[in-house]
Amino acid sequence: MFCLTVNDNLELCLLEDKHAQQLFELVDKNRDHLRRWLPWVDSTTSIKHSQAFVESALQQYTSNEGFQTAILHHNNLIGMVGYHTIDWTNRNVEIGYWIAADFQGRGLMTQACRFLVNYAFTTLKLNRVVIRCAVGNSKSAAIPKRLGFTWEGILRQQQQLNGRYVDLVVYSMLAQEWMQ
Ligand SMILES: CC(C)(COP(=O)(O)OP(=O)(O)OC[C@H]1O[C@@H](n2cnc3c(N)ncnc32)[C@H](O)[C@@H]1OP(=O)(O)O)[C@@H](O)C(=O)NCCC(=O)NCCS
Repeated sequence: MFCLTVNDNLELCLLEDKHAQQLFELVDKNRDHLRRWLPWVDSTTSIKHSQAFVESALQQYTSNEGFQTAILHHNNLIGMVGYHTIDWTNRNVEIGYWIAADFQGRGLMTQACRFLVNYAFTTLKLNRVVIRCAVGNSKSAAIPKRLGFTWEGILRQQQQLNGRYVDLVVYSMLAQEWMQ
């Protein structure tokens, strides 16, 4: 449906049915890497689960509540980044992301997030972008820090992860700060 070009090597393409197979294979190959921080990995056990996720993502897009994108690096799907449901009343949104283990450490997710933060403020005209990550997920927290987000605080035992409650750190960026 659409692809956003981050640079010559990186595109963010609206998640569609055609990505479901690749998406499942990538999750399956990266199970240990992803399950440490993402609650849905253990329950993603067949392509049907990835197809259902794609379907719900398309529903989100058609309802104008934000969108999920496949991260294509030289046309290969290497991860995902997208907006959680946009709060249009208050013009704010949260960004979520993951990348295959082999593609970490190259700054690709920082570039993808920078693009979607900018898109949120300039194209969607939102006022606030949030990134939340579990306490201890230092690779994830490094992304909002690198992008100049402000640390807001900690939501205690906000998420169930692998049978325990984890605290989430909240980082935010405001439109007026981003534009400066
Ligand atoms: C969180 C996650 C996406 C971070 O991936 P990442 O590769 O560390 O992030 P980036 O792509 O932004 O790369 C940053 C790394 O590339 C390096 N880098 C190289 N070139 C860079 C550039 N031009 N710009 C920024 N960083 C660059 C940085 O130094 C950093 O390396 P370091 O971790 O050794 O310091 C990844 O670890 C992941 O998917 N984890 C599992 C799922 C998860 O936790 N999701 C988030 C839930 S909140």
